[in-house]
Amino acid sequence: MAVDYNAAPILTVEGLKQYFKVSSSYTVKAVENVSFKIYPGETYGLVGESGSGKSTIGRSVIRLYDPTAGKIVFNGVDISGKLSKEKNNALRTQMQMIFQDPMASLNPRKKIGDIIGEGLDIHHAYKNNAEREEKIKAILEKVGLAPEHATRYPHQFSGGQRQRVGIARALIMNPRLIIADECISALDVSIQAQVVNLMKDIQEETGTAYLFIAHDLSMVKYISDRIGVLHLGHLLETGTTEEIFANPIHPYTRSLLSAIPAPNPVVEKNRIALAYDYKTSGIDYNKGTEHLVAGTHFVKCTDEEFDKWTK
Ligand SMILES: Nc1ncnc2c1ncn2[C@@H]1O[C@H](COP(=O)(O)OP(=O)(O)OP(=O)(O)O)[C@@H](O)[C@H]1O
Ligand SMILES: [Mg+2]
Repeated sequence: MAVDYNAAPILTVEGLKQYFKVSSSYTVKAVENVSFKIYPGETYGLVGESGSGKSTIGRSVIRLYDPTAGKIVFNGVDISGKLSKEKNNALRTQMQMIFQDPMASLNPRKKIGDIIGEGLDIHHAYKNNAEREEKIKAILEKVGLAPEHATRYPHQFSGGQRQRVGIARALIMNPRLIIADECISALDVSIQAQVVNLMKDIQEETGTAYLFIAHDLSMVKYISDRIGVLHLGHLLETGTTEEIFANPIHPYTRSLLSAIPAPNPVVEKNRIALAYDYKTSGIDYNKGTEHLVAGTHFVKCTDEEFDKWTK
């Protein structure tokens, strides 16, 4: 299903800042002036090293945090300020999150069916028990599990199966946007591909959009329509997956891409991993202006930097 970039975005993030005051004299600027859009049915991959602010962005967008500054518009509704009961309800159903570690996020004392049905229970999204059971059964099948799994407990599942439960739990609310924070990072590589393929199939069927947060660029490349590169809380570069991989402009993006091993041994033997040291790079992210390259490709840098990198 091709993404319609003329449609209204499902999510617009504008100038998002998320600061944490950790002591009386120290504030962590986890997210600094980040702007991006996600369109209906699109997968937007967010990449960057540990501590770059990926999870914080996900958590600010779903309003686990109060944004320090900036605007978040979801499904045409501004959700950045104080949330009315109505807005909160819409947000809690139409936006869902899948977490990295399903064992930690699934209540060990609850049966899988009740874990999956929790959102339905909270929002009274069924007429009677039979309908509830029916919905849980259907969603279990959709994620490749069996209806009889509903009566089992989380520890009776493998890591990959547990992640399917996490997906089912998000999916049962029929969300327009799913935030997947490192949702496959803890799985074996072979299982990662299965879960990613399942997510792709579900997207085809339901038209949900994903904010896909990950370290692993090869998986991000495979699933994302567009990618945003994050470093030290700044979004440095964003563009279509093809553009980012074929024509990375920011030196940090280049260093990220150069770290991916090549499957071809001849190419791998000659691969040169580029180092990127922010401290010695002389780049000041705060001075950045936005440069537009090839339509939808943004790079944040100063004019001199841009000239130097694109020469
Ligand atoms: N609640 C918080 N209070 C204080 N500092 C925080 C809080 N949450 C995150 N941070 C800090 O903000 C920065 C970004 O953290 P974040 O978890 O968003 O990074 P990440 O890109 O998700 O990293 P990882 O890849 O390791 O998951 C880090 O320096 C982190 O220590
Ligand atoms: Mg994280």
